[in-house]
Amino acid sequence: MSQRRYQPARVSALRALGGGYHHLILEAPHLAAGEVGSFALLSVRAVDAAAVDPLLPRPFSFLSRDPGRGEVEIFFKEVGRGTREMARWTPGTRVQTLGPLGHGFRPPGRRRVVLLAGGVGMPPLLDLGTELARDHAVTCYYGGRSEADLHFLERFAAAGIELVTCTDDGSAGVSGTNVDAFRAWLGQGGGEGPAVYACGPTPMMRAAAELCEGAGLPLQFSLEANMACGIGICRGCAVARSEGEGYAMVCQDGPVFFAGEVRP
Ligand SMILES: Cc1cc2nc3c(=O)[nH]c(=O)nc-3n(C[C@H](O)[C@H](O)[C@H](O)COP(=O)(O)OP(=O)(O)OC[C@H]3O[C@@H](n4cnc5c(N)ncnc54)[C@H](O)[C@@H]3O)c2cc1C
Ligand code: FES
Repeated sequence: MSQRRYQPARVSALRALGGGYHHLILEAPHLAAGEVGSFALLSVRAVDAAAVDPLLPRPFSFLSRDPGRGEVEIFFKEVGRGTREMARWTPGTRVQTLGPLGHGFRPPGRRRVVLLAGGVGMPPLLDLGTELARDHAVTCYYGGRSEADLHFLERFAAAGIELVTCTDDGSAGVSGTNVDAFRAWLGQGGGEGPAVYACGPTPMMRAAAELCEGAGLPLQFSLEANMACGIGICRGCAVARSEGEGYAMVCQDGPVFFAGEVRP
């Protein structure tokens, strides 16, 4: 589902979580109607602001979508000008939004599901896991550099998702990457392998693709790219297709792809 017109949304709440992370709730019924894995472009200038800079909108996934309340939750990290601007929003701030955009996650086709979540790649996987845990056995390997990068842990248990936290510095959970922890679990063998979903930094996605290919496991990943139009016109979000020539557009053909379709 792709909405090609910017529509206003209103900030219901914005809370700093520490470590540069923020929890944003937007009153945006049009975005709440999106499928799991879809995303939105947010203009990082407030609707009422006179400034035209920064010009380009920024893409964000949904931590949850609630069509009943007409709200979406977004979990974001301050990394540059746009997200710094967003961190200054207050309840009542009006923002321009384009979405829901892109193709979401496809059904797993297996009873067991593994989620590989890295850093700010966590939101769409918590949203997906919450849906799948109703009738699948779901385990999430959630990785960050340190404990300060891991958030909303209580929501995994509440959704019925088994959670394995992993940190590079060993400050919480398993010491090492989430892909390494999953590899160790796979090494124990037994039964049908899980369907795997991944979202996180590019090196993590490459490691996940390599592991799943070697183990013969179906993998879908949600990719990140810098975006301008969000609707397949500007070619700014192109990623190389794995076979043949040509490019796929993350905004329109993704952000979710099957491993093997494109190279992360
Ligand atoms: C489909 C999609 C969903 C996303 N969901 C989330 C989310 O739920 N939470 C969240 O915190 N972030 C998410 N992102 C990433 C987010 O869009 C970027 O962090 C944001 O655009 C940075 O904007 P900025 O102006 O603060 O940083 P900029 O000043 O634009 O850039 C600062 C630094 O971040 C890098 N950067 C910028 N954009 C991206 C990007 N898209 N991917 C990787 N690195 C980038 C730049 O290269 C630069 O090094 C998502 C991206 C995509 C494509
Ligand atoms: S952002 Fe313009 S083609 Fe994808």
